[in-house]
Amino acid sequence: MNQTSRRKIEQLRICAEEEVETREDCFADVKLVHVALPEIDKDEIDLNTEFLGFSFNYPVMIASMTGGHPATKRTNKVLAKAAESLGVGMGVGSQRAALESSEQEDSFRVVRDVAPNSFIYANLGAPQLKEYGIEGVERVIEMIDADAIAIHLNFLQEAIQPEGNVDASGCLTAIKDVCEAIKKPVIVKETGAGISYWVAKKLHEAGVSAIDVGGLGGTSLAAAEIYRARAEGAELSEHLGNLFGWDWGITTLESVVECSALPFSIPVIATGGIRNGLDIAKSMALGADLCSAALPFLKPAMGTANADADTDIDADAEKVTEKIKEMGEELKVAMFLTGCKSTTELKEAEVIITGKAKEIAEQRGFIERLKRKKRQSGSQMRLK
Ligand SMILES: Cc1cc2nc3c(=O)[nH]c(=O)nc-3n(C[C@H](O)[C@H](O)[C@H](O)COP(=O)(O)O)c2cc1C
Repeated sequence: MNQTSRRKIEQLRICAEEEVETREDCFADVKLVHVALPEIDKDEIDLNTEFLGFSFNYPVMIASMTGGHPATKRTNKVLAKAAESLGVGMGVGSQRAALESSEQEDSFRVVRDVAPNSFIYANLGAPQLKEYGIEGVERVIEMIDADAIAIHLNFLQEAIQPEGNVDASGCLTAIKDVCEAIKKPVIVKETGAGISYWVAKKLHEAGVSAIDVGGLGGTSLAAAEIYRARAEGAELSEHLGNLFGWDWGITTLESVVECSALPFSIPVIATGGIRNGLDIAKSMALGADLCSAALPFLKPAMGTANADADTDIDADAEKVTEKIKEMGEELKVAMFLTGCKSTTELKEAEVIITGKAKEIAEQRGFIERLKRKKRQSGSQMRLK
């Protein structure tokens, strides 16, 4: 078993068992304006959402988590079953382990086997693009017959790991090369520290098809490193994890605001701390096209049996399904009370930004741009 595989299973267990969520509830700074006369029938609300030419029954995706160790196959199977039964998308975890050792391919392939009709995206870290080139990207896409590839950025976590890959030079060029060579959509995703206006602009220029903001406010993979560092007696890593793991980064909300302020339009996924349908409604009202979450689905997916056992797959998939359905019901209430019949209309809902989020967006000069965009679409944004 190589180091990448070992790290993947440790990370999965730590995230399922330990405290790895930051305490930044960025969505508390956003309010949707209540519409006392919604003039719609709640039962007619349609959650169907188009994203990159694919149709989703809910504006929700299961974010990249796992694969890469034999014991992760079951979790991927459970998640893929839930995605397929509900008609939502799903990402696999980094496929680096499978590029290093073909024995690990199975733990990723299971996703496409179980979810033949779902939107599934492949996953590779930006530093691996330099190592494996276009051929590596083609291999990971082919491995799961992916509909898109997500290139993840996780330099915060890498900077904390003792063995982290901290050579970030040349990643933008590598991303651009992938966009030019690969026919499938290329998504670039952060993994907990967010994407700023300027990074989003550069990614757009490089040719990426969509941005997953992966902002601060949910799971912190950097915080997960604290537990691994402690177990290994890696004192400096533990210290760095504590210093940076809990609040470094751009929140999901701020990141969505920054991407929405761009002078062009690019599909945006809000990820990081999306925990209920109201978070989804707020993200979409600020301009996100889709939302995704990881941790809320991990615990139910690993719930009934121990992660290595191939039993109770259906029962655990049902739990994940229930969680997504619950988010859908919450979202419908928010849509009803803002008079929105569709997720497209939700993008035009009136929204108020307060507190720290307002202060940050103002200081960075994005409030005016976002207001202008909202005004152009006929909706409003207010500051309180
Ligand atoms: C156990 C676990 C493993 C993850 N592994 C990956 C990965 O391999 N590649 C990736 O792009 N993101 C990975 N992520 C990050 C998630 O895709 C997501 O961006 C992040 O967890 C924030 O969402 P959340 O707050 O809903 O958990 C992982 C997250 C978790 C919880």
